[in-house]
Amino acid sequence: VAIMGLLFLHLCYSSFSSQDKKLEPPGPTPLPLLGNLLQVDLKRLDRSLVDLSKKYGPVFRVYFGMKKVVVLAGYKTVRQALVNHAEEFGDREVTPIFYDFNKGNGIIFSNGDLWKEMRRFALSTLRDFGMGRRISEGKIIEECGYLSEEFEQQEGKAFDNAQTIHYAASNIISALMFGKRFDYKDSDFKAMVEKDHEIIRLTGTASILIYNSFPWLGPFLKNWRDLMKHVEASMEETRNIIADLKETLNPEMCRCFVDAFLTRKLNLEESEIKDSHYHDDNLVYSVRNLFAAGTDTTGNTLQWGLLFMAKYPHFQEQVQEELSRVVGNRQVRVDDRKNLPYTDAVIHETQRLANIVPLAIPHKTSQDVTFQGYFIKKGTTVFPLLTSVLHDESEWETPYNFNPSHFLDKEGKLIRRDAFIPFSAGRRVCPGESLARMELFLFFTSLLQCFRFTPPPGVTEDELDLTPVVGFTLSPSPHELCAVSRQ
Ligand code: HEM
Repeated sequence: VAIMGLLFLHLCYSSFSSQDKKLEPPGPTPLPLLGNLLQVDLKRLDRSLVDLSKKYGPVFRVYFGMKKVVVLAGYKTVRQALVNHAEEFGDREVTPIFYDFNKGNGIIFSNGDLWKEMRRFALSTLRDFGMGRRISEGKIIEECGYLSEEFEQQEGKAFDNAQTIHYAASNIISALMFGKRFDYKDSDFKAMVEKDHEIIRLTGTASILIYNSFPWLGPFLKNWRDLMKHVEASMEETRNIIADLKETLNPEMCRCFVDAFLTRKLNLEESEIKDSHYHDDNLVYSVRNLFAAGTDTTGNTLQWGLLFMAKYPHFQEQVQEELSRVVGNRQVRVDDRKNLPYTDAVIHETQRLANIVPLAIPHKTSQDVTFQGYFIKKGTTVFPLLTSVLHDESEWETPYNFNPSHFLDKEGKLIRRDAFIPFSAGRRVCPGESLARMELFLFFTSLLQCFRFTPPPGVTEDELDLTPVVGFTLSPSPHELCAVSRQ
């Protein structure tokens, strides 16, 4: 009885003390009001956080102003949180700037039932109009033709390919959202793509990070004012295109995402279902979300791929040798991918090294969670630090060098690497992954079949700069390359 009594007291004490002394993740000492803002480099936040993880471990906290953020670093920790604790780490943090963009609507910056419904709808319609079907392969192949034509027109002279590539990527989303592509010379289209690019760039700037900590500063910050102007203009353009589609809507013949959404809305209205998430705001925000998430990401990655090829010509030659041997001069198809392991490894390595979404998109805990011994309260902002996974020194043989062998076995076959998560993982994993992978493969291979990419005359390969421009995504610094015809 005495032993039982002691055991009971011990259990009571341990449960009391563990609740009382819940172990918080460690982190640098915050200053009043500023938190740790002075201890991180806001211009290269992801790298700064990787450095802090070396000191404080894979789960640590930093304060941005008064705002506490828990950072998850390294493949094992990020995977454990996003996959094994998918529910607890699966909510989205809606920072002030993201709230300004979406007011809690759409797919990327929403939570709860609304998010579930919009994400499910996007996934199923993208499947119907895009990813799973030959339709999207056809649309991408058509776009490859236009893209190559634009490159051809440069006649091998040095040019900056950023715009053209972003037009091509945006046209794929446009085909899926609106059922049509735009001419690269269409001035409204050009303005729309440039605005989206600018929105993404400005979102990652230091002043917007500061705005997220001190939202009352907004009207005093030029970047915030510019952002709001661009966002409102993009919304207006999207509303106009949707209005045109509404006029010609035929529920029997769905042409695109917008048609599918409007048809669902009509059906719900006819069934007199109230409080549906299928309202005009959600449509506009979802369409804008898919453009924002699907254009810059794919465009930047393709740009990085071409830049790596120009910088490392021996890898480029091997890709072209494989393409000539396996495909020859005919159009590459998605089915060819399995016979092009080297090319596939080069595309994987491009995504790994370019690491274009370094902090993923901030998450939030949906409930209290004890993770790796640390207590993290419900509603805490969480950064799954993708830089620390894609460049994890314990996972990759040469984490900071371009090395396609990361994805090849001794026989030259493509291997799957678990730490390859440029699309993140778990509940919020990128729903555009299959589409993006298809685009990257078809655009990259089509361009490499037609052109040899080289630095401009007078510039050596060594001089090609790989320093990224840091925004919400990491894009290559403005640069020029020559696309020399291989015909
Ligand atoms: C979210 C990467 C292309 C739509 C994300 C996230 C990453 C990512 C890292 C954040 C996941 C998280 O919060 O943990 C990429 C990369 C791409 C790409 C590297 C191309 C190379 C696309 C495309 C589309 C798309 C083509 C759409 C057509 C989305 C959406 C979300 C998202 C809607 C938010 C998901 C949610 O909150 O549930 N993407 N993405 N992405 N992506 Fe992508």
